[in-house]
Amino acid sequence: MKAHIVYDSAYGNTKAVAEAVARALKPLRAGAVSVTDFDPGNLAAEDLLVVGSPINGWRPTPKITQLLAQLGEGRLKGVNAAAFDTRVRFFIHGDAARKMTKLLKEGGANIIADPAPFYVRGTEGPLRNGELEKAASWAKSLATALERKATP
Ligand SMILES: Cc1cc2nc3c(=O)[nH]c(=O)nc-3n(C[C@H](O)[C@H](O)[C@H](O)COP(=O)(O)O)c2cc1C
Repeated sequence: MKAHIVYDSAYGNTKAVAEAVARALKPLRAGAVSVTDFDPGNLAAEDLLVVGSPINGWRPTPKITQLLAQLGEGRLKGVNAAAFDTRVRFFIHGDAARKMTKLLKEGGANIIADPAPFYVRGTEGPLRNGELEKAASWAKSLATALERKATP
């Protein structure tokens, strides 16, 4: 069982969250990989797939949406999954993590955590204080959910 942290990122903030998640999931041989480098063929049943995207116009980026459409064609059965997004704190900011979670679930993945938002200070960031720590703690909740699943 392996953890794959797949992200898209224009300014590095979503990448930084993905790397913090991967660090916290090191015992699961986790690696953070850009959506452009991710090979869906590496995904096996029982693996953990974490998908991260900045919100772009109220939704995930086109590259992430394209990947999820591709994975939804039968590659997510038996895969454990969760999603996060990065966003600004607008009055109305939309959502990407919830949409990605829905697509992962529709594709057959087993969703092991609620969608998680992480906040940046402006379009280019940086991340708000404490967001990397929040990412590590969210990642640990994923590991706990997997452990619970493994011990019925
Ligand atoms: C074209 C564009 C559209 C965006 N739309 C939204 C949005 O709808 N809601 C939001 O909260 N942030 C929005 N943002 C801000 C991004 O969420 C922010 O740039 C991102 O979290 C930074 O992450 P990154 O460094 O990984 O790209 C938008 C940014 C861009 C460039």
